[in-house]
Amino acid sequence: WCLYTPGYHFTYSKPQIDTTMNDHLTKKLKLKVSAINNGTVIDHIPSDNLFKVISILGLQKMKTQITFGANFESEKLGSKAIIKLSDVFFEDDEINKISLIARNAKLNIIRDYEVVEKRVVEVPDKVIGIVKCFNPKCITNNEEITTHFTVISKNPLDLKCKYCEKITHEHQMVIK
Ligand code: CTP
Ligand code: ZN
Repeated sequence: WCLYTPGYHFTYSKPQIDTTMNDHLTKKLKLKVSAINNGTVIDHIPSDNLFKVISILGLQKMKTQITFGANFESEKLGSKAIIKLSDVFFEDDEINKISLIARNAKLNIIRDYEVVEKRVVEVPDKVIGIVKCFNPKCITNNEEITTHFTVISKNPLDLKCKYCEKITHEHQMVIK
């Protein structure tokens, strides 16, 4: 690398191969999925839930550019997935829907190729649709009715059904 101060022109070079190789390698590894110009990058999604996240956010209906990858190494998750959405910016309500299955997801808002904001997802107070009621006798499991839960505990998740009032616990949660 090179350091420039007015009046001085000072160049420091470490053993050549090391720095250049490492820089190239780091950049290449980081950009397994290419950088985007403007939009949202959803990072740190558990790989197993990538396609559920796509479905919850309705990404299959979007017409803008979408790139995604799964099974990348992650220190925290072991294996993570990432979704890059060009020209898409989410409202909190919309994006918080994925908190149920991607608790550690991080949102990076990109403008002019720069990360201008980082956000985490939060478990909402109400969950509408997405999750099945655990009670087989619940009306939502027997008729075409959208499920509706109040979140009574966020960690671990406990969802109380508006229709049958039964609790669906996190370990019983089935995504529709
Ligand atoms: N990214 C992108 N396009 C850009 C800028 C960033 O797709 N123009 C992606 C990066 O590839 C990365 C994520 O957005 O997956 C966050 O970028 P950055 O903050 O630079 O990376 P990290 O510091 O590794 O992020 P983290 O907060 O997860 O440690
Ligand atoms: Zn119910």
